Amino acid sequence: MTTTLPSAPGPIGVFDSGYGGLTILESIRRRLPGYDYLYLGDNARAPYGQRSFELIYEFTLHAVEELFRRGCHLVILACNTASAKALRSIQQRVLPVLDPERRVLGVIRPTVEVLDRLTGSGHVGVLATQGTVDSHSYRLEIEKLYGGGLSVTEIPAPLWVPLIENFEADGPGADYFVEKYIGRLLAADPKIDTIILGCTHYPLLLGKINRFLPEGVKAVPQGDLVAESLADYMTRHPEIDAKCTRGGCASFLTTENPGKFDAMASAFLGYEINSTKITLP
Ligand code: DGL
Repeated sequence: MTTTLPSAPGPIGVFDSGYGGLTILESIRRRLPGYDYLYLGDNARAPYGQRSFELIYEFTLHAVEELFRRGCHLVILACNTASAKALRSIQQRVLPVLDPERRVLGVIRPTVEVLDRLTGSGHVGVLATQGTVDSHSYRLEIEKLYGGGLSVTEIPAPLWVPLIENFEADGPGADYFVEKYIGRLLAADPKIDTIILGCTHYPLLLGKINRFLPEGVKAVPQGDLVAESLADYMTRHPEIDAKCTRGGCASFLTTENPGKFDAMASAFLGYEINSTKITLP
């Protein structure tokens, strides 16, 4: 990036490959309503889930740079696939060169941090995109925090995101694939009592997911966990907090058709959205 980044305080950036990050934004706004937010959905290139490591990294970096250019000092990667494949490289290699004062945070660590309080059996399942599962980011993070104390089984649910992105989440076809992936996970480890919805899109299927869960098994969406962790982060980092504006507003950017984005986002969030179309490199 060659342009100078704006130094004035700005909104908190929230990035997702598409609509899924709205589930995170919603929780964050409920928990931290005073800040301004700038949401970016790379809908034109979603889903990311089955793309190569290199592409996910490249697309995520472009999105982060765009949000920085638009005044954000703090960006949340509200996408597990981007968090799994790009977060560490951006934090360790890009930020020190680009601007060591800016921050990029992900969604995997905040989810894993509270797992020991959620599971009774000590057996946890993760449903996520192929990319997130292949990265084993959940397994690695769980092993880092709990050693061998928790058993984890990761299974991809590759068709859930396309169902959501194509407005089929409420259709009968979704039932088949919801049951299929839950069945596959619980067959792999019948002792699982806690299923992390390790993709920010999946809470948009939560009603259906809950219908197919046996008694004693719960699905955990990440939104509230990420929101709580961000609230804690802001109190521990007053220097970042001071760079985030507080007007209580949210703006939306999409790389696809804004009319389509507005219809989906408004339906999900329950208030009217007027997004702006942008192009990423
Ligand atoms: N919502 C994203 C996640 O949390 C990825 C969905 C996709 O683009 O495949 O993983």
